[in-house]
Amino acid sequence: MATPHDTHDPDHRPSGGVLMGSLARFFVNRRGRGARNVAQVRPLLDGLDTPTPRDALEIGCGAGAVATWLATERGMAVVATDLDPRQVAVARTRRPPGAAVRHAVMDASRMALGTARFDLVIAQYMLHHVPDWPGLLQETARVLRPGGHLLWLDFALPGWLVRSHHAGPFHGPSVTAACAAAGLTRVRYEGPALGVGTQRAVFRKGSP
Ligand SMILES: C[S@@+](CC[C@H](N)C(=O)[O-])C[C@H]1O[C@@H](n2cnc3c(N)ncnc32)[C@H](O)[C@@H]1O
Repeated sequence: MATPHDTHDPDHRPSGGVLMGSLARFFVNRRGRGARNVAQVRPLLDGLDTPTPRDALEIGCGAGAVATWLATERGMAVVATDLDPRQVAVARTRRPPGAAVRHAVMDASRMALGTARFDLVIAQYMLHHVPDWPGLLQETARVLRPGGHLLWLDFALPGWLVRSHHAGPFHGPSVTAACAAAGLTRVRYEGPALGVGTQRAVFRKGSP
């Protein structure tokens, strides 16, 4: 699979996102996080009113637990990408033998992946790393098939805190509006009860 590093593109911005520092990497790579991540994704996936997706993409996969689970427990063919080569190395090391997951170092804002290639894209705690997250959502819509789904999970935080962490004004309504502009219709949204925690949403490419 081609990655941004395989081709010379003078316009390519090498960092479409912000790489994690060592403390953040410690939290992302600790073992319990994988099970927590899967537990958050499972109800969104099980709630889809379509047949089980076949081709899945996880962007900003971190240590790769969700991608592995999609392949080994749900029988999907999975591509798992991260901007950070260190995270792709961790995810590859943790991939069980034979699991149908292909890993790649790739900027999700600009993917060397075909148009309408996937039934499912998962973006879990990664969008807040991406300054041009509306652009990333456009790119996500490009690689989704019509009727395919984006599962988006991320922090719901006070605006000042989110702004201090890379991503600019960033909350459920603004993400929903950016998705709509990209042709992704929101079919589900859950915010945290007290306003701070994890927000999660499902978007479908095309009309509901
Ligand atoms: C907080 S971690 C979350 C990792 C994993 N999804 C999880 O929940 O454990 C955010 C990840 O997004 C990656 N990332 C940041 N910008 C990115 C981009 N433009 N394209 C792909 N991955 C990106 C980071 O390298 C990091 O691994």
